[in-house]
Amino acid sequence: MDNDLNKRGSWSSKFTFILVASGSAIGLGNIWRFPYLTGMNGGAAFVLIYLSAVFTIGLALLLAETSIGRAAKGAPVCAFKRLKPNSGWHLLGVAGVITCTVILSYYTVIAGWTLGYSFKALKGDFSKSLTTEMVKGMFASFSSNTGLIILLFFIFIFITVLIVAKGVSKGIEKTVKSLMPILLLILIYLVIKSVSAKGASEGLNFFLKPDFSKVTWDTVLLAITQAFFSLSVGIGIMLTYGSYLSKKESLVSAGFWIVSLDTIVALMAGLIIFPTLFAVPGMVPTEGPPLVFIVLPLVFSKIAGGAIFGFLFFLLLVVAALTSTISLLEVVVAYCVDTRKWARKKAAYIVGLFIIFIGIPSILSQGGSNFFSSLPVIKKPFLDVVDLIFGTYGYMFGALLITIFVGYVWGTNSAINEIEKCGRIFKLKRIWSFVIKWIMPLLLSVILIASFI
Ligand code: PHE
Repeated sequence: MDNDLNKRGSWSSKFTFILVASGSAIGLGNIWRFPYLTGMNGGAAFVLIYLSAVFTIGLALLLAETSIGRAAKGAPVCAFKRLKPNSGWHLLGVAGVITCTVILSYYTVIAGWTLGYSFKALKGDFSKSLTTEMVKGMFASFSSNTGLIILLFFIFIFITVLIVAKGVSKGIEKTVKSLMPILLLILIYLVIKSVSAKGASEGLNFFLKPDFSKVTWDTVLLAITQAFFSLSVGIGIMLTYGSYLSKKESLVSAGFWIVSLDTIVALMAGLIIFPTLFAVPGMVPTEGPPLVFIVLPLVFSKIAGGAIFGFLFFLLLVVAALTSTISLLEVVVAYCVDTRKWARKKAAYIVGLFIIFIGIPSILSQGGSNFFSSLPVIKKPFLDVVDLIFGTYGYMFGALLITIFVGYVWGTNSAINEIEKCGRIFKLKRIWSFVIKWIMPLLLSVILIASFI
């Protein structure tokens, strides 16, 4: 079997696995989505619920997914076929591959924006004195400049393809290993700058002192969806990454590290954004998705050293997004390699081209008034709709089916067997089995039903 592992490619160590899996987890979800959700949902109270979700059900699902991948040594479709032949469960793998493809097609649109905004910061666009109207106008004209957005999208997907085409160790491992330290250094620098700035305490209060009066049932649902999205669990990514890990490494300690690193980065992003935001009079944290692209440039234009701060911030987003797009593409490419027996390079380029093709409606939907920016009947932009279908419902549904598969089809005992292959006893196996068999299926069904109603 280990021979087989070498043919498919493998991580050089557990440390590498932790780094690449964290690279997938740490992304726009941590630095763009988490802060705006926190801003809109009562600050620290949301943070607390989020923390409880990632360290319980998030970690449990991560373990379930990585144990499937490593036991089967295959990408989603082939993994389910190997563990439960002729059962139809491989369709769950197919759904994961489709979800990754679609998420990649719109995630790259936002990733392209971050690239564009880094250039803007570098050009000094945020160092002039700006007004709210001006930053709004800037964003509107930027996102409706279709030619530019397509170009940025193209650059981003092209870089991702080049890296994934080079393979598991020479491409993904090498790149992510050099990008993660850069990401951490920029993060630490920005946190120190923002927390030590004048007037930081109001933002810190908002972020760190919980006010439970703002918490509703919706807040809880949102925190759980965000936990899964942020950890990249539920759609086969961790399954695929786990399939390249050697049996002698501990999935439990790796999982704990991945969840901790992902959470630390989300918290650091909050520590950068809220103190900076509250330091400028009149700024509110409840803006929603445009928080990073509209409110922050305005803030950068008003603080000392804002131009360089702004550039580093958007560069941070670019790096974080890239390590995530790599993982999304890898799932689809691994499927083509494992199941369709394509050569890796061919798979990477063909899938890349396909992503450009299906990304176009998402690009066109952001700005201007055309068909895609307000779909008939639904009256929402195409990007928002695919995010809702795949990034929210598809996600939750995938997570639900994975827990059912591990809990009742493959069996928690088989999973525990795989987890203990490293030679160490899994101390929390009873609790974990209970969570996978009972808590998660129940909780996720309730969430899905509640959000439909
Ligand atoms: N976890 C990534 C983030 O936080 C997003 C992502 C989701 C990446 C699903 C891959 C797959 O941005």
